[in-house]
Amino acid sequence: MSFRLQPQPVARPNRCQLFGPGSNTKLFAKMAASDADVINLDLEDSVAPDDKAQARANVIEAIGSVEWGNKTLSVRINGLDTPYWYRDVVDLLEAETDRLDIIMIPKVGCAADVYAVDALVTAIETAQGRTKPIGFEVIIESAAGIAHVEEIAAASPRMQAMSLGAADFAASMGMQTTGIGGTQENYYMLREGEKHWSDPWHWAQAAIVAACRTHGVLPVDGPFGDFSDDDGYRAQARRSATLGMVGKWAIHPKQIALANEVFTPSDTAVAEAREILAAMEQAKSDGAGATVYKGRLVDIASIKQAEVIVKQAEMIAAS
Ligand code: COA
Ligand code: MG
Repeated sequence: MSFRLQPQPVARPNRCQLFGPGSNTKLFAKMAASDADVINLDLEDSVAPDDKAQARANVIEAIGSVEWGNKTLSVRINGLDTPYWYRDVVDLLEAETDRLDIIMIPKVGCAADVYAVDALVTAIETAQGRTKPIGFEVIIESAAGIAHVEEIAAASPRMQAMSLGAADFAASMGMQTTGIGGTQENYYMLREGEKHWSDPWHWAQAAIVAACRTHGVLPVDGPFGDFSDDDGYRAQARRSATLGMVGKWAIHPKQIALANEVFTPSDTAVAEAREILAAMEQAKSDGAGATVYKGRLVDIASIKQAEVIVKQAEMIAAS
């Protein structure tokens, strides 16, 4: 291990981020009553250009008036390539209410994109005398975003989370697909004439996880477009969890339970992790650095692996 210890991300559950368009006010109360850990009110791509100003006003009104409970409340602002984003930030931060927790910056391409928003947010917070600092989350959804993923993760102390946005990412990369995440028909290996499907999102996810873990940011899997395909969502989410991601977006309420199921460590997994910790305690008191658990090697690295699962379960239970 480098002498620099890996920083810990913010300790809050982020299993499911539920999105809803800022133009659809009927959804706000339903979102607040849902089982999602994070609520993302959207001003960006689910809102038509003519509705931008009205959606911004709706969202600011709802931040102050809806009872959001202990949810993490985030607003996705418009991208830095649009004429809308600065007004999004100014109006959100000059609002009466300080209930907003996070601003989500879409289509981030380099650290300077985050720096620009940070400068504006910091000036407004100081001018307004706001005492609760706004956090940031970003979406990696372009070739530039993935090429600069590490500097983006390190770009601001406000950084809390980073998501992969599969649809815009695929478009920016020139990928031949219109699917939003999941299995892609043409991404397969052949063995003895049989197709075996592989995962085209894997490398981008792994790059995001590595950048996030290096800089103490939560790695999150983005949307899964086909909300009639529960098994497809589950499979995508399980791969993400296996790679180290802590949660996934829901673009329809039926995806919330699926995300919570996959990203809450199961009772069996937690029990096994505790047994490994106990086995290693025993090994330590016997003066050994390694031992056998259910016929397989466990050693000091196994303690850290088991602690990831136990700590995640304890943090979720405490929230
Ligand atoms: N949050 C909370 N509740 C939602 C919801 C959401 N995002 N989307 C739908 N619902 C509610 C509906 O209002 C409906 O409630 P009801 O039973 O009280 O009438 C129920 O869930 C079933 O909705 P359904 O009819 O299946 O969906 P729809 O046709 O109304 O909406 C979408 C489908 C995809 C348009 C809608 O889910 C949506 O806007 N999703 C978010 C899109 C978004 O934010 N995209 C940006 C990020 S990629
Ligand atoms: Mg996008």
